[in-house]
Amino acid sequence: MSLTRRRLFQRLSTPVQSAHGEWISARGREAGMMEYGEQGMAQGAKPIRIASNENPLGPGQHVLDAIVGKFPEAHRYPFNAKQTEGALITDIAKRYSAKNENVLLGPGSGEILTHAVRAFTSPTKPLVTAWPSFENPRDTAKKIGTPVREVGFDGKLRIDIAKMVEASKGAGLVFFCNPNNPTATVHGHSAVADMVKAIRAASPDTMILIDEAYHDYVTDPSYTSAIDIALATPNVFVTRTFSKAYGMAGLRAGYAIGHAPTVKAVQAFKMPYGLSTLTLGGTIVGLADQAHIDAEQKRNTAVKAFTVKAFADMGVTGTDSQANFLFMDIKRPAAGFRDACRAAGVQVGRDFPPFEKTHCRVSIGTMEEMKKAVDVFKKVLGSTTTTSSKDRQ
Ligand SMILES: Cc1ncc(COP(=O)(O)O)c(C=O)c1O
Repeated sequence: MSLTRRRLFQRLSTPVQSAHGEWISARGREAGMMEYGEQGMAQGAKPIRIASNENPLGPGQHVLDAIVGKFPEAHRYPFNAKQTEGALITDIAKRYSAKNENVLLGPGSGEILTHAVRAFTSPTKPLVTAWPSFENPRDTAKKIGTPVREVGFDGKLRIDIAKMVEASKGAGLVFFCNPNNPTATVHGHSAVADMVKAIRAASPDTMILIDEAYHDYVTDPSYTSAIDIALATPNVFVTRTFSKAYGMAGLRAGYAIGHAPTVKAVQAFKMPYGLSTLTLGGTIVGLADQAHIDAEQKRNTAVKAFTVKAFADMGVTGTDSQANFLFMDIKRPAAGFRDACRAAGVQVGRDFPPFEKTHCRVSIGTMEEMKKAVDVFKKVLGSTTTTSSKDRQ
């Protein structure tokens, strides 16, 4: 290693090895300023960022070390690195007893969703999606002139599967987000399997994309991943991300699993070597550490229970959250609540029409952050008025 490169490496290593907590906080603050600004906040105040469904702690130390360890290779293209995309693909395939041809990588699963809409829909082959759901497929469809069929929810704000099946006839792609963002609700494995069967009977050529971005946070015992369904059934594929429980949202990595022809069709739109060498280093180590993910799930479940109880004590309830965020019926417009919370240093989720007059999405931060956030919620909810019943959707 040249002296210059060694110096760079030492500088990059320092915050990770000696001041990890401080570094994480600083990173959060910068991101908060970028995404939401700090208008209306007391000067010098550090925002509590619970708006973007991120893991507030990030990945483990060994993942950070692996990322830093890749800097000496940063001047090379990823295809010349010691570990290429092929290494991560092999690890993912092994994990699910699949073949490499069943796995597609993307710089975030969002990009895979975009490409899937491009690959499988058109002006004559609509997209079916719950609404509200993760907006990327719907936004992409609108951009390329694909009609969108929106499906609603049952009384518990779970995606209405019967309506999804009905809407699938003649569609190019069904996007099924499980757990769904922003409602945080999930369907169990047998319900998903039945839905897939019904869609394939009603519309055999329709592709079915099951988004499991929040898979690692689910505790509902009826749920297990649909990856087994994707590997056993043509035209079905599952997407996953390293942005949530794995804590690597800023590194940008996600993947899809499905039959080889499906993977190939989406891959046609993918930029080659879209994942950086640093990202590959981090995700390969992160994927191997299931103990870290299990601990993150436990931590999230405990902090979520604390937050749900605190809301209940204020008379506020929400859906049965199976993710790292809550969808709470605050009985007043989300915008006013959000602005008042932000002024007090707490950033909560954006509007999700048609629920924007009543519901707010709140991500789960650390216990320390949620204790502070709950104090702010109490004050804000005590000082703002509810939406009248005629204005509720
Ligand atoms: C349901 C869902 N899918 C996909 C994504 C995209 O994640 P990424 O592109 O970071 O992998 C998100 C991000 O919030 C999401 O909520």
